[in-house]
Amino acid sequence: MGGQERRKVIFDTDIGWMNDDCTAAMFALLAPELDVLGITPVMGNFDLNWSMACALRLIEILGRADVPVCRGFDRPLLHERDPYADRVWGKWATFEEVTSFPAGMPALQPDPRHAVEFIAESVRRYPGEVTLLAVGPLTTVAIAIRQYPEIIEQVQEVIIMGGAISTLPRGHGNITPAAEFNFWVDPEAARIVLRSGMPITLLPMNVCRQTSFARETFNRLTAPTSAHPAAARLIHDYLLRNFEDPAFDRENARLYYGMYDHTVVGYAINPGLYRSIDMNVDVSVIPGPDYGVSYGYEKGPYVSGVDRFPLEDGSQAIRVVYDLDFPALVEMYVRALTGAH
Ligand code: RIB
Ligand code: CA
Repeated sequence: MGGQERRKVIFDTDIGWMNDDCTAAMFALLAPELDVLGITPVMGNFDLNWSMACALRLIEILGRADVPVCRGFDRPLLHERDPYADRVWGKWATFEEVTSFPAGMPALQPDPRHAVEFIAESVRRYPGEVTLLAVGPLTTVAIAIRQYPEIIEQVQEVIIMGGAISTLPRGHGNITPAAEFNFWVDPEAARIVLRSGMPITLLPMNVCRQTSFARETFNRLTAPTSAHPAAARLIHDYLLRNFEDPAFDRENARLYYGMYDHTVVGYAINPGLYRSIDMNVDVSVIPGPDYGVSYGYEKGPYVSGVDRFPLEDGSQAIRVVYDLDFPALVEMYVRALTGAH
């Protein structure tokens, strides 16, 4: 970074073993532009016990035991797990103890502080300097806001992967027809965060759908010349199977689920690679088919300055990213993971 100060970030994540959260965490931990103050796992893709084990084992393998891992919330504020959630990918609140782990059980222990305390402490310690990278359900961030409202003014930025904006291209849902997973798991939390007044940048499904994980990227990440052999080995040992899966699209040599949460890390490093607009965004908390659906609108095109639109009551304008230079994001990722600077 040529002597430039590294950007202080906290990685709030529903991490699983070598899922996109996990490889995005590797990206953040190894990027020389970022200073990861801590990782705060939250339930979502998996039960929190599993996510804690994943984060601890990851930093152990990468030799980054200096990074605290603080336990976040193990269930959404209101949303109960049900058979639909189980079927479509919602394993939060199973509370199963982790007794074995693919890469060996972590010996490292979690930091004793709760994620909420850790976030508040860090933001207060470095006012205006800490950015939250939120790539899972927003439960912990919402409680931190409620418990320590002073962080609203003191946080530098909150960069969120969540939601799907139907008024922009590629804005359909991925867990219900219109809802995106992170917001749907805890819509009430998402609403608290979006309405908090914090400086928010949102990377919704619209932009994540422009990413993929290519075989060529895999090959570069696992090159024997990598300066981070532990990272290269993890990618090789756990992601190779994706390319051997019969469902893999060999013709296009791409996997379509692989770099969603990386968009947030890339934005923290170089927002110049992305295009965004200001929109009012809110989340429906009405039970039924609309639960967890995010809505975004620009005041000009959709709503006149005189008429009030229901979303205006409490929603705020945030920055919504709708486009990115994906090849440049891949370059940043490869550079971070292989140390090729
Ligand atoms: O909906 C996409 C989000 O949920 C991403 O954060 C990804 O990790 C998935 O689990
Ligand atoms: Ca995630």
